[in-house]
Amino acid sequence: MTQSAQPLPLSREHPLAAPAEYTRLRAESPVCPVALPGGRTGWLVSGFAEVTEALTSPAVSAKRGFQTTVTSVTLTPEEWVASGFGTSFIGMDPPEHTRYRRLLTGQFTVRRLRALAPRIEQIVDSHLDAMVAAGPPADLVRDFALPIPSVVICELLGMPYAESKHFQQRTDVIMRLERTKEQLLDAMTGMASDMRAFVQERRRNPDEGLISGLIQAVPDDGEPLTDDELVAIGNLMVIAGYATTANMIGLGALALLAHRTQWETLCRRPEDVERAVEEMLRFLTVGPYCLPRTAKSDFELGGQAIRTGDAILLATESANRDPAQWDAPDTMDVTREPKRHVGFAYGVHQCLGQELARMEMRIAFGKLARRLPELRLTIPVEQVRMCSDMQIYGAHELPVTW
Ligand code: HEM
Repeated sequence: MTQSAQPLPLSREHPLAAPAEYTRLRAESPVCPVALPGGRTGWLVSGFAEVTEALTSPAVSAKRGFQTTVTSVTLTPEEWVASGFGTSFIGMDPPEHTRYRRLLTGQFTVRRLRALAPRIEQIVDSHLDAMVAAGPPADLVRDFALPIPSVVICELLGMPYAESKHFQQRTDVIMRLERTKEQLLDAMTGMASDMRAFVQERRRNPDEGLISGLIQAVPDDGEPLTDDELVAIGNLMVIAGYATTANMIGLGALALLAHRTQWETLCRRPEDVERAVEEMLRFLTVGPYCLPRTAKSDFELGGQAIRTGDAILLATESANRDPAQWDAPDTMDVTREPKRHVGFAYGVHQCLGQELARMEMRIAFGKLARRLPELRLTIPVEQVRMCSDMQIYGAHELPVTW
């Protein structure tokens, strides 16, 4: 790497803007050296073509053994193992990854999703009813964006809803940039031991949920999943499925209310919510720290020579705003013709829960637009407390009235 390494672009001129530095990088150096915490250097990939190429390249491994965020504490591999949290398949490569991916794909069936749809409608209706009954003002994050995906994850896994209070709190600690080692270990061991108890309960009393489905599933190698594997999968589902969707709903609502004409367009034609959701998934990114990857052989990307073992950061936020892919990419347009984006990544690791997430968002925004067209923020968008203290981006609160 001869170019000097630059810091990961994180500063935003506006809560809904992508870091401005990405505009320059995409044009001048879509694959460039980036400084990682701890003095290490990696590659930052910011162009759409280069990000999609890396996501499908056999030279790129999903293994990550480096940090992208400056967090207050990190765990040693021994501490991680001792927490019982488990190693999730998101960081594995085929064929190891394939074993889990096949089993999980078999559980995300059209039948299960169809069965969840009326339940999600009920959940969204009941939260809107409660908000309307309590009357304005409300906090759209606390009253709407957070509870809906947490109920859905419980329904999906077959977990009692009472559990969600704990996993919401623990996910919050795990996602924070500043926490003590004790707080982090406490959250991880707590989540792992509750998940283990839940897995064992489902072994005794199977239900229609995903964990019971996985217990009964027979992998290609004929070896049923162990409790350790089920705990790791359950934890991944909660972390990957709850915080992402909750922040996308919060961020999506903020973007619609901040761009009033977009909200009005959706309220006039809530039946076009599918298109609006796809635009939110392109325009907004809950993962500002990029998708981490490691080169498993020497290869070339965007004219740069990448060496075996190099750290690679895929900036999906930048890729989704690449002018080579979209006209006026920094403009949110809920009527935009949908096109492939990388909001759910691409390739073998592309989001397993994407159809569920889309369904949740379509139901949530469709009903919100129908029920509360007068919805508006009570503070200027610049004053909304954003999650810049978290490893995930979103709004901490959204004070609204109607
Ligand atoms: C709007 C909400 C969501 C967003 C933006 C999102 C985004 C992503 C992204 C970008 C990846 C790829 C990570 C990588 O390649 O390193 C991913 C993977 C994954 N997501 Fe999602 N996700 C969302 C909702 C969900 C939901 C609801 C679930 C499940 C209930 C879920 C489960 C997963 C799993 C299991 C993986 C790992 C797949 C694999 O490694 O094969 N996600 N998600």
